[in-house]
Amino acid sequence: MRRKVIAGNWKMNMLPNETIEFIEKFSPLVKDTENEVILCVPYTDLFYALLNVQGTNIKIGAQNMHYEEKGAYTGEVSAKMLKSIGVEYVIIGHSERRQYFNETDETVNKKIKTAFENELKPIVCVGETLEEKEANKTEKIITEQVELALEGLSNEQVEKTIIAYEPIWAIGTGKTATAEDANNSIKAIRNKIAEIYGENVAEKVIIQYGGSVKSSNAKELFEMSDIDGGLVGGASLKVEEFEKIVNFNK
Ligand code: 13P
Repeated sequence: MRRKVIAGNWKMNMLPNETIEFIEKFSPLVKDTENEVILCVPYTDLFYALLNVQGTNIKIGAQNMHYEEKGAYTGEVSAKMLKSIGVEYVIIGHSERRQYFNETDETVNKKIKTAFENELKPIVCVGETLEEKEANKTEKIITEQVELALEGLSNEQVEKTIIAYEPIWAIGTGKTATAEDANNSIKAIRNKIAEIYGENVAEKVIIQYGGSVKSSNAKELFEMSDIDGGLVGGASLKVEEFEKIVNFNK
């Protein structure tokens, strides 16, 4: 059985004092969950978050990193820097980075490899635009993105990769994919992984859904056969809301 992994993506929100306050209120509410709980916070909150989740079941992730080990890349943060302070996860290839910051399938692939070399666990985002969805290209787009993202990885690395299927038209719009559509898209991703890396590997890969997940739809989504939890944006900024999402099966 795959575990459910529920990650909050705070995007460019929350200051250190808000981070500390959030974790103080949130951690007792999720301490008994069997689900894995991750908070992906801005770089400037990482250290405060890491200090404040000590002794809890909450894991901390970053939202991006550079693929080079080090060097003259002003303003960038390396995998080793993240690892050195205790970060465990890193979101790679979020659609907002693909859209606004020139992230490509190629840089996503390089970043995943660098993340693994530094023992960080990548949460890799894929998803189609509204235009692509309306042209019935969802499956083709997302399976291609997954194939290119994972190119050159070992079976062992693929097993450890978390994939987040996030339809772009569902992000921050209040529109959610139906549980059935989301499950079918995620099945298509799993089938593609099975085709390349084998059934055994595909059965182990955690594939989340993301896009307007809230407490009112989390249960329906996360109970589908192939949806292994969620990557949650807006709703992860509110303690009461995110707590309900994490505790969807309690
Ligand atoms: P929302 O939950 O705000 O739609 O954002 C989803 C997302 O982009 C998570 O990475």
